[in-house]
Amino acid sequence: MSYKTLNDFDFNGKTVFVRADLNVPAKDGVITDTTRIDRFVPTLKEIAGQGGKVVVASHFGRPKGEKKSEFSMAFLAPALEKASGIKVTFVDDCIGADRDAAVRAMKNGDVILLENLRFYAGEEKNDRAFAEQLARGIDIYIDDAFSTAHRAHASTEGMAHLLPRGAGRLMQEELEALDKALGNPERPAVALVGGSKVSTKLDLLANLVKKVDYLCIGGGMAHTFLAAKGIPMGEGSLVEPGMIDTAKSILENAGSCQIVLPVDLTWADAFGEGQQAHVSDADKVPAGKVLMDIGPKSAAAFIDVISKCKTLIWNGPVGAFEIKPFDACTNEIAAAVAKLTQEGKLTSVAGGGDTVSALKKAGVEPALTYVSAAGGAFLEWMEGKTLPGVAILEQ
Ligand code: 3PG
Repeated sequence: MSYKTLNDFDFNGKTVFVRADLNVPAKDGVITDTTRIDRFVPTLKEIAGQGGKVVVASHFGRPKGEKKSEFSMAFLAPALEKASGIKVTFVDDCIGADRDAAVRAMKNGDVILLENLRFYAGEEKNDRAFAEQLARGIDIYIDDAFSTAHRAHASTEGMAHLLPRGAGRLMQEELEALDKALGNPERPAVALVGGSKVSTKLDLLANLVKKVDYLCIGGGMAHTFLAAKGIPMGEGSLVEPGMIDTAKSILENAGSCQIVLPVDLTWADAFGEGQQAHVSDADKVPAGKVLMDIGPKSAAAFIDVISKCKTLIWNGPVGAFEIKPFDACTNEIAAAVAKLTQEGKLTSVAGGGDTVSALKKAGVEPALTYVSAAGGAFLEWMEGKTLPGVAILEQ
């Protein structure tokens, strides 16, 4: 991978458009998780610290080309200011005469935050005229939004064609971590994939079997693989009948990649809180029971494989981690991964919305080598797809 980083520019006196991903979880204007803001701060501080005039832009939610007040980003300016310790001025449009005037009036080290890019349909359409308006008065384009790099939008791709371009520190950090995990991993390498549906992760599994030495499959998606191996899965499983043949083909074409499936499963009488956990071997779950987690023997087997490996890439919890006690196996694996990482025996990279929540809940997120701030972009990258926002930086 070759792209410019902040090291390659002299920002002093330059007007720098920085595409961030400030699409943070928020409820009634209150930010519930500041991770994306916190991780963006180093780039902001570095450019402003060098005397750059920083024009920060992002999307927030999916307003679909309309100015809707519930998607205004005004509330993010104080949050960014608090996290960075730099004054952040909010400009209530991302293009137009007022915004252009605000950009022209900036002094070295100033920071402005533009209103939601997705208030204009041109953003998601990657419209050339809209990209030109965004680029007006800008000297340098920096993309620090890996988590939006799977979108070929005007601010993530189109305008990058128009200006000298480079990756911000968060983008760089993500790309380096992901390269270590899957691009060029230290071997043996293992992928742990969970989540409920095989159908949403087909491309991902197909790509992973080509890249790793072991693939551990947990979560509801393992039920389809168990069914493909002839193990009867009842109504309380998440088996996708239409996917059994595909699962068979993945198992048959795994080549040198060893696929590890659960050997036991945790079940309950019904789905939900307050249920008692029972464990049976995968082929001995009583009829009518609801599968909630993999079982302890499976967790131990997954941990055993991970302990033999130098690199782990993890996407998806192995059970219904939101509901106690069905978070047990996800927590146990997370604790083992954290320990191996801290002992310097494992490079562990994880990502995807549920995975990050599960790791946070298990209290081990900081102990992993890298936890991606991206959701969809992380998955597309694991699928081996070209991310337009990264491809243009490499051109
Ligand atoms: C995300 O939250 O994954 C990114 O901000 C991308 O958002 P989107 O799925 O609305 O494009």
